[in-house]
Amino acid sequence: MSRRVGGKKRTRSLRLTRRGLLTAALGGAAVLAGGGAGGRGGIGRPFGIPAVLAASTASVKIGVLLPYSKVYQQLGEDITSGMTLYFESAGWKAGGRTLTVIKEDEDIDPQVALRKARKLIEGNNVDLLAGLVSSASALAIRDLVHNSKTLLVIANAGANAVTRARRSPYIFRISFSNWQTAFPIGGWFYENVARSCVVGGSDYAAGREDISAFKESYLASQGRILGEVYPPLNNTDYAPYIAQMQRLRPEAVFVFFAGSDAVRFVGQAAQYGLLKEARLVGPGFLVEEDVLPAQGKNALGTYSCLHWALTLQKPENLAFTRAYRDRWKREATVYAMQGYDAARVIVEALNTAGGDTVNKTGLIEAMASVKFASPRGAVAFDPDTHNVIQTVYLRQVRQVKDALHNVVFHDLGVFRDPG
Ligand code: PHB
Repeated sequence: MSRRVGGKKRTRSLRLTRRGLLTAALGGAAVLAGGGAGGRGGIGRPFGIPAVLAASTASVKIGVLLPYSKVYQQLGEDITSGMTLYFESAGWKAGGRTLTVIKEDEDIDPQVALRKARKLIEGNNVDLLAGLVSSASALAIRDLVHNSKTLLVIANAGANAVTRARRSPYIFRISFSNWQTAFPIGGWFYENVARSCVVGGSDYAAGREDISAFKESYLASQGRILGEVYPPLNNTDYAPYIAQMQRLRPEAVFVFFAGSDAVRFVGQAAQYGLLKEARLVGPGFLVEEDVLPAQGKNALGTYSCLHWALTLQKPENLAFTRAYRDRWKREATVYAMQGYDAARVIVEALNTAGGDTVNKTGLIEAMASVKFASPRGAVAFDPDTHNVIQTVYLRQVRQVKDALHNVVFHDLGVFRDPG
């Protein structure tokens, strides 16, 4: 399947005839002089056309791996819509080349994600990979990406290791590390919410890492953890887990849930009375704009921390949220913003590299230098880890005109993952 993200129009990779390639070869000396992996098949070959040149004149193939089913389906759709919006604004061009997207469903099974990533890299010969929602998929495909020297721009998946112990020059993350979405709130939570609490979340890398990051700052502030509860990912029945939390009689609970898990957890926490007994707080995914309409009044008043909010008053955010609303007839979400920025990273890096996807060192350097005023505020890549450096905000779900939205009420500062 080869088509523009989210669009109906199918675009095939540009096919060049041998004659076309030879014509291109004559005008392409500068690209060849840049060297790169295709350098061996140089102009001296009687009939062969250098791979580097062929690659530089065809469209740039971007493999997009995102969930289009199950618990994180909406996240995948939102990231896709954000990416499309940015690529459209760039006219589907970067570094003088046309951009083509090939989408695959990441699923929630990391083995499926690995299979799809292999198909995109080895079967479709993509020039770049982008996407990934789940930490488990990011961990599963890390070695494949690294060993195949495929540049990957992560648009969500926060698994700490991929920009720490298992970091790779080929991996850039414009979204967040899991640590960045929970560590920043621990001290504030201790001072303003509760001196003791129950923690929990979906039982996989993201839930575990968020809770461990929260505990790091909360325990350092002398907070006390009463218990930890980890329901499976893509869960439907939270009753036993909510009962387990209630038995500990917490004043507050700090939890990581996202997508349809966040909708079900909040709904059932209200149904079984937990929301009347305890304050609900978490990384902002818990009550993000994708799930808020379904959660309704149950989410009202919930505090969370995140690196963006729909209501963030910045000119770049006003422009982005307006353009997104006009294009898709729905509100933007943090995932849409991350997709928009991931596409911008790709476009800007390709522009700097003059569209050369064969010279990986050049493309990596170009990408590492990308920095801009995002709808969330200033973003840049940490030169050591390639993880984004960004501001984290405190938000509360409030009534804004006729709808519920996350309203930023405090800026927790700029956070760089410890690496
Ligand atoms: C993750 O698996 O890293 C993840 C998934 C969904 C989120 C945030 C993080 O909303």
